[in-house]
Amino acid sequence: MSELNLVLLGPPGSGKGTQGERLQEDFELPYYATGNILRGAVEERTELGRTAKEYMDRGDLVPDDVISGVIAERLQKPEAADGFILDGFPRTRPQAEALDRELADLGRDLTATILIDVPDEEVERRLGGRRTCVENGHVFHVDFNPPEKEDVCDIDGSRLIVREDDKPEVIRHRLGTYHEKTEPLIAFYDDKGLLRRVDGTEAPDEVGDRIRALLATLRMEEDI
Ligand code: AP5
Repeated sequence: MSELNLVLLGPPGSGKGTQGERLQEDFELPYYATGNILRGAVEERTELGRTAKEYMDRGDLVPDDVISGVIAERLQKPEAADGFILDGFPRTRPQAEALDRELADLGRDLTATILIDVPDEEVERRLGGRRTCVENGHVFHVDFNPPEKEDVCDIDGSRLIVREDDKPEVIRHRLGTYHEKTEPLIAFYDDKGLLRRVDGTEAPDEVGDRIRALLATLRMEEDI
């Protein structure tokens, strides 16, 4: 496959970050997770972070033009020339259209949008037990994917925290936002023939295997 330009789509807590990290390792592609980028900006108190913080803490989306600009800048980097993995972008129709325009300007296409499908009850269970590393956003779960040492990231040794937006009332608000603003993108990408669905309710290794199998099929189809 010449380029692997992937979008990971799915509700909060569906496992986009968990699978995105694995794909990044498997394919050695840049991984752009808008939530991580924004949390990094909040931590560093940049102008982007100051704009984003109040939206994020409420569980609302940051404005489309702000986040579309952040991603356009990343896609123009040489490191993204052989492909990229987008996690958490696009999340609205205007963002999806902005991505189309950016890729058209670069003379490139999306390879696939992978929908990781998980029902709301499972989302609430998962996000309630999530622990996130402060430095690099690596994710763990107290029951399903526990770190070796409590509250310490296995990967980089930094502190694990409960995200501000993982409080129960904010989780419900994020789910509402997902259904209203992001779910319509399923039809948007299905109409373009780009959507691939994966059952996200299985264990992380099974979900990862299904995504790898799906990408292998796409590769074979391209070779035929
Ligand atoms: P963001 O960080 O992108 O949050 P999200 O989409 O709500 O997704 P999450 O990070 O909560 O979940 P995930 O799907 O990555 O699941 P994870 O792998 O961690 O965005 C945060 C905020 O930033 C937004 O609310 C918004 O304000 C702003 N923002 C970001 N992008 C934006 C955009 N494009 N436009 C506007 N605003 C934007 O897994 C969850 C838990 O489950 C973990 O504990 C994990 O260990 C566990 N787990 C994972 N897989 C499994 C499994 N298969 N079985 C059991 N447990 C599992």
